[in-house]
Amino acid sequence: MHVEIHKLFQQFQTALARRPQASIVESLTEPPKLGDFMDRLDPNLRLDWSGQSFHGLPSLRHKVLQRMELADACSIDDVLITAGTAEANFLAIMQLVQPGDEMIVDTPGWPQPLVLANAIGAKLHTLPRDESRGWAIDLDQLANLIGDNTRLVFLCNPNNPTGHLIPVEELRKVVQLVDRVGAYLLTDEVYRGLEWGEEKTPSSAALYERGISTGSVSKVLGLQGIRIGWLVCRDPAVITDAIVLREDSSEIMNIMGEAIADIALGDDYYPDAISRARQTGRHNLELIDRLIQAQAALDWQRPAAGLIGFARLQLDISADEFSARLLDAPYDTFVMPGSAYDRPQHLRLGGGGTTARLEDGLQRLGNFLATLQ
Ligand SMILES: Cc1ncc(COP(=O)(O)O)c(C=O)c1O
Repeated sequence: MHVEIHKLFQQFQTALARRPQASIVESLTEPPKLGDFMDRLDPNLRLDWSGQSFHGLPSLRHKVLQRMELADACSIDDVLITAGTAEANFLAIMQLVQPGDEMIVDTPGWPQPLVLANAIGAKLHTLPRDESRGWAIDLDQLANLIGDNTRLVFLCNPNNPTGHLIPVEELRKVVQLVDRVGAYLLTDEVYRGLEWGEEKTPSSAALYERGISTGSVSKVLGLQGIRIGWLVCRDPAVITDAIVLREDSSEIMNIMGEAIADIALGDDYYPDAISRARQTGRHNLELIDRLIQAQAALDWQRPAAGLIGFARLQLDISADEFSARLLDAPYDTFVMPGSAYDRPQHLRLGGGGTTARLEDGLQRLGNFLATLQ
């Protein structure tokens, strides 16, 4: 099996090698520093495997259930601590989907399931999101794609890159469709906790016994670098298979990361951190929205959740050309072209990171746009 690079990663590699002075791509909350955790870390922590469980630290798994509001539906045996959402998705997809199995993935969406499905030799069906309906999924279309050979439906909810949020009633209908054929439903919920309206992110692990919810501390708490995420599923075979595959890659969890995540999801840290993240995220998205409203060249469906959105570029140049020119001097600013998601006329804009850095990026973007009118 050989996994091909996906265009999103390619774009990040190329643009970040240029070390741009500004960017409007950030998808995570401003990261805390190690010092923020120092006085709460145990200096006697042995830097060996915890020896407690191949599922990950029990206290951390408790907190994951509590913070993800899954404590009523799931037990800590249903939680596997992983190296981020990315590893959780990887372990689930690789063990569930075999060559020839059918897999359905929403697009635009997270590219990982697309490249993995192709590498496995699965039969891949894409479920196109509808921009005219705020990037919603079409349940009739999904019903037509689902068949007896469907093994897995993967949905990025809240969606990267559009910020669309599938409401709970709709996800229940998705569950009915997948349940009919006994398929699994994996929802990547890495942006859970950053909803901007009344609707909260529903968890497939709560709604369905073959539902798999993945997530992490990366986006909401800005702790991407500690590589701590989770896979939650009530089917014990999914957890066991994931542990078996992990034994042949990273083997066990990163104990320092687990210790920090355990603090970060605790009562002394999480409530303040999430409220700061939500406040800054809301403000930053408002700044992006203001710029878009003032520019005829851009239009977007404001994200319902998460820190990124997908703006349509209403100019005669492609998003690739637009972002290449913006990356050049004097603007020196990175925005992600939609070609990374096979949408050549869109730009992915992110309101993560600090407000000051975003304001700098938006100023540069505004200056560049002024030259194109
Ligand atoms: C939708 C989605 N899934 C997964 C990931 C990977 O996140 P993690 O750091 O939790 O592995 C990202 C990061 O950009 C993402 O946007």
